[in-house]
Amino acid sequence: MNMLESIDRTKLPRHIAIIMDGNGRWAKGRGEDRVYGHYEGVVSVREIVNACGDIGIEYLTLYAFSAENWNRPKGEVDALMELLVNTIRKEIEDLRKNNVRLHIIGDFASLPDICRKELNEAMDITASNTGLNLILALSYSSRQEIIEAARKIAELAAKGELKPEDINDGLFHKYLNTANFPDPELMIRTSGEYRISNFLLYQLAYAELYFTNVHWPDFRKNNLYEALLNYQGRERRFGKTSEQIQTNSTQHA
Ligand code: IPE
Ligand code: IPE
Ligand code: MG
Repeated sequence: MNMLESIDRTKLPRHIAIIMDGNGRWAKGRGEDRVYGHYEGVVSVREIVNACGDIGIEYLTLYAFSAENWNRPKGEVDALMELLVNTIRKEIEDLRKNNVRLHIIGDFASLPDICRKELNEAMDITASNTGLNLILALSYSSRQEIIEAARKIAELAAKGELKPEDINDGLFHKYLNTANFPDPELMIRTSGEYRISNFLLYQLAYAELYFTNVHWPDFRKNNLYEALLNYQGRERRFGKTSEQIQTNSTQHA
């Protein structure tokens, strides 16, 4: 039985989040410029988006550019922004046909005009699609997102429009960029780094974390299936005991 057939379709995560890391190292290992790794990384993006859509994942969040990534050399930042525009232009027709709906999280206003224009068009074109929700994290900082949510809530409280005791998990969630999405159940990071790098700090509270040494440009369908099988082999306890979880699952079986 191949890996795809081994995946239990009734136990898929609804939402997968990926830190696509290692493009630079992948290119360097081939004696190429870092930017070459980013180009090849787009091939992985296409394959993983298609695989997630085909298997029935509802939400896929891809960390494409962090707020901290603005501190990279200007040449690399410019190349990444150009790659973003060109990729959206090239892929939009396939996204539309494949019923993928595009969303953006992060500091949209900080992106160059041309990127915003292209992304806005792509979001409009795919707005009525009902398949995979593809969420690109661009100029994204989770701390900034949390701080902005706190600020908005504080403003409402200061105006008397809500009371401090109304603030709970459900309300807070509404003020995050991810207000319309469920929390990821599975977070994947490629390239052997074991950190979160300011990604979805609030939303990943109970996500299963999966780390692989594979660099992002080498991460393809089978690597995704491997991550899903690994996820399905875990017991998600949410603070309870293993016995409680097992009793519950037999009761509901
Ligand atoms: C991830 O690959 C892509 C972005 C952060 C834009 P990197 O560019 O971080 O590659 P490494 O980690 O330097 O190898
Ligand atoms: C995280 O990768 C951001 C993206 C994948 C877009 P980085 O390569 O920028 O993270 P650090 O610097 O290693 O933590
Ligand atoms: Mg990196």
